Amino acid sequence: MAAAHDDSRPAESPPTLEELARARYSRRGILAGATAGFASLALSRFAHAGPDERQGGDFRFEPLGLELGEDHRVAKGHSAQVLMRWGDPVLEGAPPFDPARVTAEAQARQFGTSNDFTAFMPLPRGSDRSDHGLLCVNHESASARFMWPGETKRGSKRSERIAAEMAAHGHSVIEVRREAGAWKVVPDSRYARRITATTPIRLAGPVRGHRRVRTAADPKGELVLGSLCNCAGGTTPWGTVLIAEENFENYFRLPAEYQGPERDNLTALTFEETPPFRWYRADERFDVGKEPREPNRFGWVVELDPYDPDATPVKRTALGRFKHEGATVVVNGDGRVVVYSGDDEVFQYLYRFVSSGRHDPEGREANRDLLDSGTLYVARLQASGRVDWLPLVWGTGPLTPANGFADAGDVLIESRRAARLLGATPLDRPEDVEVDPRTGRIYVMLTNNVLRTPAQIDGPNPRAFNAEGQILEIAPPAFSGPRADDSVPGHHGAPTSRWNLFMLGGDPAKGRPANPDNAVFDPRGRLWIATDQGSNQARRGVPDGLWACETRGPERGRARLLYACPRGAEMCGPSFTPDGRTLFVAVQHPGQGRRADGSAASFARPATRWPDFAAQRPARCAVVAITRDDGGVVGG
Ligand code: FEO
Ligand code: CA
Ligand code: CA
Repeated sequence: MAAAHDDSRPAESPPTLEELARARYSRRGILAGATAGFASLALSRFAHAGPDERQGGDFRFEPLGLELGEDHRVAKGHSAQVLMRWGDPVLEGAPPFDPARVTAEAQARQFGTSNDFTAFMPLPRGSDRSDHGLLCVNHESASARFMWPGETKRGSKRSERIAAEMAAHGHSVIEVRREAGAWKVVPDSRYARRITATTPIRLAGPVRGHRRVRTAADPKGELVLGSLCNCAGGTTPWGTVLIAEENFENYFRLPAEYQGPERDNLTALTFEETPPFRWYRADERFDVGKEPREPNRFGWVVELDPYDPDATPVKRTALGRFKHEGATVVVNGDGRVVVYSGDDEVFQYLYRFVSSGRHDPEGREANRDLLDSGTLYVARLQASGRVDWLPLVWGTGPLTPANGFADAGDVLIESRRAARLLGATPLDRPEDVEVDPRTGRIYVMLTNNVLRTPAQIDGPNPRAFNAEGQILEIAPPAFSGPRADDSVPGHHGAPTSRWNLFMLGGDPAKGRPANPDNAVFDPRGRLWIATDQGSNQARRGVPDGLWACETRGPERGRARLLYACPRGAEMCGPSFTPDGRTLFVAVQHPGQGRRADGSAASFARPATRWPDFAAQRPARCAVVAITRDDGGVVGG
């Protein structure tokens, strides 16, 4: 649509990147990959938008070098303490980690595998204590090859090991305390909790009880066993944690002989006949041929109250079903709650949910079911720089019985198909989304998409065969009128916003890291970016890690490395204490991938034995607490 019809753009707005690019380059020039031009244009796009833009540059640490090694590293003046490792005790009576006894019984009481999202929830609840709290941690996945000797695949086929894999997934809540500068896990805490692939979880919202979530074990469609592939997440202003279910297709077998009504739904979510995990051998619900509706009970955002260890977690179906990377919550100016979420797969979409009700800052109970009613939207990013937020409302546009949507539940269960029919913009793997609390701008991590062809290039996805990723910046229009106390700037429920390319990844030596994945804003409103290069890490010889990134001032769009993961690991789950003096990060799958000599890592010969560095002990995923030696805020 032409810019003349654009109602979201303030009159004083500077030209968009696309407009500048059109004026300065031929289309051919852009397609040829004028990435340096893009970067500098991105810098100039907001360079004179307001006084706040000219500030910045307040990170004060010397960036790390980019060498990849067996140990983790943190910038000078900071310390990195390994706080919690795979297999460490969580529940009372849990055995200590023993690599010779990785069993379901042990795992169900120990810290799980593949730590990802972390959230620090202060104790007491509602306080801003930064030395005592609950650390809530996702356990995304597992890899049998690195859990037991002799396994060659990601998932074991031995039933007792399948049970251990199921117990290693999910989520942990641990109580942590900082004493004399060091973080400790409080043993036998009354808050300690493990969520696994068999924990009862309530279905809520429009899909609760829907015909397509009813199964033999749960004929009413109200209670699911387990939460799977918990990747990133979010926190709510009323003190709960949101856990995002991502690559749940990895756990289900879709046999060729199944030609029933869910086949297209599951194929669109890349279900396969031979999934990496072979749980269907141990539990029939993971075999689509036997229980075709079970997969419709996964791919949701789960809300957990960490302050009540007896509370049943809840799958909030109003937020849609897809491969949720995360779920980032802001309160809009009018008090409605908005949740942003990316669908982490190539050519998938960016979504936002806007609640019907308003956040009540006083009454926690009043907010309990806020996420059960509202509207889910998906983003269409126009070449003009406009973002259209397209509502996924049953009975409107193409979302009708003629297209197989019999009711609102069908639209939520098949969010991807609904979004595609509405004309959403396919993006280069939308992962984490974070909102700058000072400006209200939204930052969307697009990790990579090597499948994009030159013919498929567009504004927000400007590179073909994109191995390096980029970050989008979306500016909502101003919110007019009095704003709710705890709201962020901008109108996050508005029908349109503006988009801009913030950073093209790919040249870490110049402060542009490749493959942005997770992100977080610190309490001072500064952006931090976690990377996941996948197999490119070994090829590039650059570690994954956590980068501090300027969003304002002359250094806007430039990042510097604070923390480097050990070899094989990706960086996940950055979160801060309220005072900004502790930064938690999750080191996921260290020691996997390639060894320094280029050979494939294995249980017997991992790429590192971080963090224990003991013979016969495998590398272990771990949560690390980063502090500054002078007690100041992390990053200076
Ligand atoms: Fe679980 Fe998108 O990484
Ligand atoms: Ca991720
Ligand atoms: Ca995040």
